[in-house]
Amino acid sequence: MTPEPLFRDAVPADAARCYEIEISAYEGDEAATLDKIALRIGEYPQGFLVLELGGRIVGFINSGGADNVVMADEAFKELVGHDPDAENVVIMSVVVDPAFQGQGYSTLLMREFIARMRAMGKKTIHLMCRDSHVGLYEKFGYRYVKPSESDHGGLAWHEMVMEFSR
Ligand SMILES: CC(C)(COP(=O)(O)OP(=O)(O)OC[C@H]1O[C@@H](n2cnc3c(N)ncnc32)[C@H](O)[C@@H]1OP(=O)(O)O)[C@@H](O)C(=O)NCCC(=O)NCCS
Repeated sequence: MTPEPLFRDAVPADAARCYEIEISAYEGDEAATLDKIALRIGEYPQGFLVLELGGRIVGFINSGGADNVVMADEAFKELVGHDPDAENVVIMSVVVDPAFQGQGYSTLLMREFIARMRAMGKKTIHLMCRDSHVGLYEKFGYRYVKPSESDHGGLAWHEMVMEFSR
């Protein structure tokens, strides 16, 4: 029987396992380093959501808070300018362990992440994605904004946003 999914904020001891998933799921230099993952957990655990199955992390979403969102800002990935109390959230990674992909886990993770951000009073969630994932994020309720100025990893990126109306 598949164990019940459990959601929680990341803790520092999760960094190594999250890094393992990050490098197995993202190609080449698209993956964040262990240092960046540890930093994101340390600085903004409430924006670093992990999904556990039977006590093992199988996926996560991490993010930072920004008053003024500049999506092509590479330094923000190291949380330069991050403000945990800002009204806008910028997602940096959405990842599921390849062994667990295609079973709806990113959908569960995103649904939980959105609910938590809404409950925290955030106004918008922003992210950048590749061509192949635009449809996926539209399904999650994000709106296409524009092609990104970033050429991170030598790839074309697109900016997407979710705005909460309240
Ligand atoms: C993208 C990713 C998070 C999806 O996780 P997942 O748990 O396999 O996704 P799900 O099973 O919840 O699938 C959700 C939906 O998206 C679709 N989907 C999954 N991966 C997709 C992809 N690479 N491209 C387009 N659609 C995709 C699924 O078919 C599914 O559609 P359905 O609801 O109509 O069946 C996962 O493939 C991953 O970790 N990839 C590497 C990291 C990455 O590229 N993340 C995206 C950052 S921009």
